[in-house]
Amino acid sequence: MYVVTGATGNIGHRIAEILLERGKKVRVVARTAEKLQPLASRGAEAFPGTLEDGKFLAGAFRDVKGVFAMIPPDMQTADFRAYQNRIGSAIVEAVKAAGVPFVVNLSSVGAHLDQGNGPVAGLYDQEQRLNKMAGANVVHLRPAFFMENLMMNIGLIREKGINGSPLRADLKFPMIATRDIARAAVDYLVAGRSSGKIIHELLGQRDVSMQEATAILGRAIGKPSLAYVQFPYDEAGKAMIGMGLSPDIVRLFIEMYRGFNEGTILRGIIRTAQNTTETSFETFAQEFAGVMKRAPAGVGFHSQGRAP
Ligand SMILES: NC(=O)c1ccc[n+]([C@@H]2O[C@H](COP(=O)([O-])OP(=O)(O)OC[C@H]3O[C@@H](n4cnc5c(N)ncnc54)[C@H](OP(=O)(O)O)[C@@H]3O)[C@@H](O)[C@H]2O)c1
Repeated sequence: MYVVTGATGNIGHRIAEILLERGKKVRVVARTAEKLQPLASRGAEAFPGTLEDGKFLAGAFRDVKGVFAMIPPDMQTADFRAYQNRIGSAIVEAVKAAGVPFVVNLSSVGAHLDQGNGPVAGLYDQEQRLNKMAGANVVHLRPAFFMENLMMNIGLIREKGINGSPLRADLKFPMIATRDIARAAVDYLVAGRSSGKIIHELLGQRDVSMQEATAILGRAIGKPSLAYVQFPYDEAGKAMIGMGLSPDIVRLFIEMYRGFNEGTILRGIIRTAQNTTETSFETFAQEFAGVMKRAPAGVGFHSQGRAP
């Protein structure tokens, strides 16, 4: 039996699907039975509840070969790092209580830094917390910026006819499709890597700039002249507040964008065959076009509710 947290989200649902396709037993965790139902109908054991509840988690983690553990985004929380630390501590206590033999921990590029990296600082904390567990076997996956983050711009593209963010237009940086993260997580879970602590960066198929990404998206959605605009930090911050994000999470996102633009988050990261993954931005753009076609009016940052 494997446990997948965040099982209705981008990465978790794909992990659960692949495990089921491979004939493995899977316990899927998210907040409601209703949203877990599609996986339950395919044979997964639905285990609804909140990751903030340590006792619930210890039950979810009982008698398993491995756990995929993640700290989900919460765009409304007043103190994001404290929220991440609450969930992170509950996960670690549950791993100890249930005697989980192997954890695949969803971290991020930039988690080698304890500050200056926005929401990633809380993932640094979680890596440290897991590393302190003597004898525990843990893989920290450190994926790059998710291609799916661009889904949050569907409203902007539709309503204003541009793509934009505070990221520099010409900055080439690694972007990954979440399905590639799921594949890596499954490979580790099924192999059951048995000793120590491992860090595995996942950088997507190649580095892409926002300018290039926008041109590829533009062609995929039939707007080849779609332009990319770099938004000033304060303007972007005000827009995010307007969309209902908490001031703390907005502060952290701006800090993270600055960290990407100034090169601090990605400094020292070197692309290799081992950290390069399959899905190209062009392939993602086809999916993006399909989602955009189906998305109801008004879909944007707030309604997607997912963090970069
Ligand atoms: N975005 C990026 O560029 C990036 C880069 C590197 C790392 N990351 C990491 O990736 C994470 C996001 O992964 P993702 O995109 O797969 O997630 P996602 O699509 O946002 O899904 C979040 C999942 O967590 C569940 N969830 C939310 N709050 C919960 C709670 N209190 N208790 C139990 N379950 C809860 C949600 O289920 P329900 O809503 O059904 O309960 C959903 O299954 C981020 O939090 C960050 O740590 C992100």
